[in-house]
Amino acid sequence: MSTGRVKPLLRALAGEVLAVPPWWLMRQAGRYLPEYRQLRGKVRDFIELCLTPPLAAEVTLQPVRRYGMSAAILFSDILMLPHALGQRLTFREGEGPALEAIEDRHAIARLDLDRAIPRLEPVLETVRRVNAALAPQTALIGFAGSPWTVAAYMVEGGGSKDFHRVRSWAYRDPAGFAALIELLVQGTVEYLAGQIRAGADVVQLFDSWAGVLPEAAFGRWVVEPTQRIVSQIKRRFPDCPVIAFPRGAGFLYERYVLKTGIDAIGIDTTVPADYARKALQPRAAVQGNLDPVALAVGGAALERAVREMRHTLGRGPYIFNLGHGVLPHTPPEHVEVLSRLLAEPVAA
Ligand code: CP3
Repeated sequence: MSTGRVKPLLRALAGEVLAVPPWWLMRQAGRYLPEYRQLRGKVRDFIELCLTPPLAAEVTLQPVRRYGMSAAILFSDILMLPHALGQRLTFREGEGPALEAIEDRHAIARLDLDRAIPRLEPVLETVRRVNAALAPQTALIGFAGSPWTVAAYMVEGGGSKDFHRVRSWAYRDPAGFAALIELLVQGTVEYLAGQIRAGADVVQLFDSWAGVLPEAAFGRWVVEPTQRIVSQIKRRFPDCPVIAFPRGAGFLYERYVLKTGIDAIGIDTTVPADYARKALQPRAAVQGNLDPVALAVGGAALERAVREMRHTLGRGPYIFNLGHGVLPHTPPEHVEVLSRLLAEPVAA
């Protein structure tokens, strides 16, 4: 089957099985690259980097220039939406993000959706610049966090071991928490629509903390909001594929694929390839899921893992990726090795 598209990533997303899979890596731009560290040293903070289009565009392009991935992913962060909504956000070196925590309905009233999208205009300008600079075969991926994961950071005020506070709010006051989720659904649709209009070929939703919820809460706070975002994006941009990454969804991956209407499912490191092949790939392209530690270690472990993954998942529509982001201590040469391993066609 040929869909007549030039970009291998879009061909896989349309259901084509390719002898050489398209590939990119979550967190492919970042601290493991010396050219990133050099540029990062020139700006005061990470948010400034995300909101300065020439620099953010340059950082987006750095890994693609080095390794020739099938896609560039916009350089930004899932927390830029809460920042644009008016929540105070800082990133401290080595500590991760810190937000002024939101704990009740009153704090939601202070978030301003109308003001948020104009404040994200520099991110859309970055998309335009990257789009203009990419080779015709390279796709551009726009992204946002999923409402659940973004809400989790907003309520906890940063990362957390168990996301106790946000889970408590969702149980204690579901109507109040639903207002926050609804605001994030609307903001995310507008933000992604802006990225698509600016030149993103595909969008990905990152749901890094989808795995902390039991079945019913997963349905209400992960599946339903995602499904609403996907249907609104599809109504406005019927040709724009959507990838989603509900990290840690475990037994709920299958339901997530069935109910959300996504084109591709990002699988985390723990999802067995054989299960993904049988249960997920008949309904969506599969993206993943090399252990980022195997990439950092390299050598025989890396070669073997890549070979096995391609052998199983490469028989259906497949996008090679990691099961989570590139680790900062990953030697850049290992990504070079990976790019060569992936370029070899695999006999059917
Ligand atoms: O994938 C890419 O290359 C695109 C850029 C990108 C970043 N963050 C850059 C970044 C993307 C897609 C993200 C998504 C993101 N951000 C997620 C979802 C994916 C995941 O990792 O689970 C999450 C949870 C965040 C929130 C976030 N941003 C955290 C928890 C941290 C601190 C931890 C860390 O790795 O530093 C960040 C900071 C961040 N986002 C950095 C980068 C390159 C490091 C900041 C720096 O260079 O100073």
